[in-house]
Amino acid sequence: MNVHCLLVLYGSQTGTAQDTAERIGRQAQRRRMRVRVEALDTYNVGNLISESSVVFVCSTTGQGDPPDNMKKFWRFLFRKSLPAESLCRLDCAVLGLGDSSYPKFNFVAKKLHKRLFQLGANMLLPVGLADDQHDLGPDGVIDPWLLSFWQKTLSLYPPPAGLAPIRDEDKLPPRFVFNFLDEVPNHQDEDLQRPSNDAPPTSLHPFPSHVVFNQRVTHPSHFQDVRHIEFDIAGSNIQYDAGDVVMMRPHNAAEDVKQFCQLLRLDPECYFTLTPTDSSTALVPARLPQPCSVQFLVEQFLDISAVPRRSFFELLGTFATDELECEKLLEFSSAVGQDALHAYCNRPRRTALEVLTDFPHTTAELSVDYLLDLFPEIQPRSFSIASSLLAHPNRIQILLAVVMYKTMLFKPRMGLCSSWLGSLDPSKREIYVPLWVKKGSLSFPKNQDTPVIMVGPGTGVAPFRSAIQERVAQGKMDNVLFFGCRSETKDFYCQSEWEEKVQAGQMTLFTAFSRDQEDKIYVQHRVRQQSKLLWDLIANKNANFYIAGNAKQMPISVCDALKEAFQKEGGMSESQAQEMLDAIEKVKRFQSETWS
Ligand code: 2AM
Repeated sequence: MNVHCLLVLYGSQTGTAQDTAERIGRQAQRRRMRVRVEALDTYNVGNLISESSVVFVCSTTGQGDPPDNMKKFWRFLFRKSLPAESLCRLDCAVLGLGDSSYPKFNFVAKKLHKRLFQLGANMLLPVGLADDQHDLGPDGVIDPWLLSFWQKTLSLYPPPAGLAPIRDEDKLPPRFVFNFLDEVPNHQDEDLQRPSNDAPPTSLHPFPSHVVFNQRVTHPSHFQDVRHIEFDIAGSNIQYDAGDVVMMRPHNAAEDVKQFCQLLRLDPECYFTLTPTDSSTALVPARLPQPCSVQFLVEQFLDISAVPRRSFFELLGTFATDELECEKLLEFSSAVGQDALHAYCNRPRRTALEVLTDFPHTTAELSVDYLLDLFPEIQPRSFSIASSLLAHPNRIQILLAVVMYKTMLFKPRMGLCSSWLGSLDPSKREIYVPLWVKKGSLSFPKNQDTPVIMVGPGTGVAPFRSAIQERVAQGKMDNVLFFGCRSETKDFYCQSEWEEKVQAGQMTLFTAFSRDQEDKIYVQHRVRQQSKLLWDLIANKNANFYIAGNAKQMPISVCDALKEAFQKEGGMSESQAQEMLDAIEKVKRFQSETWS
């Protein structure tokens, strides 16, 4: 029987593109196709010329960059040496996930679509540009796009005669079958993850570090709990520079792991191996040791604490036998039910575990084999490194804002990673934090004579603390920092460190305490006041200028203040000031890193 093979390749940073890719995979299975869903960087790109049809699902991150797990692919695809018609046998389509409130909306998907076309691929339909800002969320674009995609694909590759599609309410086979073992193997789960040689740690082989310092740096009466956290990385082979980021995967909270195991009648002490139901289309996740304990799976792999996505409800619905639960789950899976799903799940930030407790009859019917289909993998979190190896050998320090907020639900919402890290007791050292380091987007000048100006309100100051420590250790004393917080007495962290360095002539500091007086004073106000100094440093001494922080408006306001300084001190028009900013950005003398 001639069954069509579809390949779904994704580039995903936070897991949304992966979830969408997996959803497309399930839709293909229902249409009786063989399908493989894979991250772009684990796929052997050389095979692309022999594929028949491929859907690419990719998000755009930060400043219009591809996600980490498609960076290798990206470099390959844009090689000049690729022959013009190399993909002429390929039918393909590109679906992009993005957010139109950022400047380079869906840049990666648009560029990928163009490049594939240029390489001769037959583009089945225009690039799909899903938008977080759409009234109905990204699904408002994805659903109609997929409808045309399937129409087009099925007209080219009709399913074999006599095979009807598998209905939405019928179960697809799980991707893996669990084989439970009678005995406990004689290794620890973590042992298998350690790197075998001297290579620096990676996502697959993280370094098991300990928290050796964990101290609140905001006043107890301040609304936000910010921690100074230090990790011991002795023996890890980790090297990092100012501007780099540390990556880690949090564990689920112990009580959540316990509750989950009780709900699903799982013994955390039990070990299992996984067998793919179709080894040509599914690979056992490399991060799961084989055999693996239920404890490891639930604590460190399954994301049971995230707000579940629509695909979770689609699959859960196939287990429902109770009429009321079934009706609700079908509603949440449907296009028209997305508003209701948003109100039930996203707005109050309800976790997958809480959803399971809301649907007890369905949860009781769940088969363990479907766990990896239901729950995505816990995604790594990244933090700007706030220390320098030159000042703190064998250490990584971060500034961690513990995320906690109230919604309409009774229990306050906690950020998984920040509450886990914040809870670790340095005196006990019983819990490993698996971590590795990644190049950040900020880079600092090697040249001894280049001054740096840094604007970092709140935890945005983290990469600048690293840069100042590193530069001071190298004898580079031309460091200007603009720091902003709410109050001098409540959240002015690193105060004594800055004061010492100012005293020693190693840096210049300007502070903006937004709430210590009636009118708000922000970093951009201080930038405006220092126009003369900034103009001199940038125009005459070739200084670099940096912005980091999490307030969306802040970078725009700081740029405006900087352009005003150019106008005022350099006698420039508005457009000339913009040109100057663009010019220094182009040569990386202006850099920014923002996050939300
Ligand atoms: P606020 O909370 O009083 O508004 C670190 O979070 C500091 O950044 C705080 O003092 C905060 O002030 C300030 N901040 C908030 N929004 C900002 C913006 N748009 N521009 C500059 N600073 C901002």
